[in-house]
Amino acid sequence: MSDVPRVVEIERLAYPSTWPPSAYRKELQDNRWAHYIVLRDKQLVEERMTVPQEPEKPRRSRLFPLSLLPNRPAMTVPSPELASIVGFAGLWLMVDEAHVTTIAMHPDHRRRGLGEFMLVSLIDIAYEIGAKWVTLEVRVSNSNAQNLYRKYGFREAGLRHRYYSDNQEDALIMWTDEINAPEYKHKFVELKSTLFKKLEAS
Ligand SMILES: CC(C)(COP(=O)(O)OP(=O)(O)OC[C@H]1O[C@@H](n2cnc3c(N)ncnc32)[C@H](O)[C@@H]1OP(=O)(O)O)[C@@H](O)C(=O)NCCC(=O)NCCS
Repeated sequence: MSDVPRVVEIERLAYPSTWPPSAYRKELQDNRWAHYIVLRDKQLVEERMTVPQEPEKPRRSRLFPLSLLPNRPAMTVPSPELASIVGFAGLWLMVDEAHVTTIAMHPDHRRRGLGEFMLVSLIDIAYEIGAKWVTLEVRVSNSNAQNLYRKYGFREAGLRHRYYSDNQEDALIMWTDEINAPEYKHKFVELKSTLFKKLEAS
C-alpha cells in the first residue's frame, strides 16, 4: 500500500490516462485475484543514502501558493524506498487465464531490459497461480509494448473497437499459447536466461 503514491507517479508519466489512486488500493485490499509487483532499483537507494542531501533552504513566502493551483501534484520529497521504484505491473487471474492489467516503466529507466523483466515476473506468477494462458489488451499504436509481447509469444486474437476512452483508440487483444505446453515453456526459459545474462552484464 505504501508504494501506491510512487506507482501513481510513474503511471502518470507512462500512460495517457490513469486509474484513480483509490483503484490501486482497492485492487490490493479487495481483489483476491489481483497480483501486483513493483520493480526497485537498489542502486538508486544506495546512491540516495550516500549522497549527502542539501540542507533545506529557508523558504520565502510566495504571493500565491503554487500548491493551490488546480491539478498541481503535491510537492513531496519521496523516501529512498519509494524513489527506488522504477516500474510496476499487475495481472488478474480469471479462472485459468492471467489477464495483464498494467505494465509500465519510468521513462528514465526504459530500454534496459527491465520492462521485459517485469513481464517475465508476471508470467512466472501466472505459472505459480495455475494460469494456462496469459492475455492482455494493448493500444494499436503502441508498437513498443507489442514488440515486447510478441517476443514472449503473444499473438493477436482480435480487436476491441474504441476501447480507450481518452482517444477512442482500438485495443489489440493478444494471447499466449498454453504456457504449460513444452514448446512455450522451453522458449520462455530460453528468453529468461538470455535476459538474466544481459541484466547481470549491465
Ligand atoms: C512497454 C514498456 C513497459 C517496455 O519497457 P522497457 O523497459 O523500455 O522495455 P525493455 O527494455 O525491457 O525491452 C523489451 C522489449 O520490448 C520491446 N521494446 C521496448 N521498447 C521498445 C522501443 N522503444 N522500440 C522497439 N521495441 C521496443 C523490444 O521487443 C524489446 O526487446 P529487445 O530489447 O530484444 O529489442 C515501456 O515502454 C513502458 O512503460 N511504456 C509505457 C506504458 C505502456 O505502454 N505499457 C504497456 C501497456 S499495454
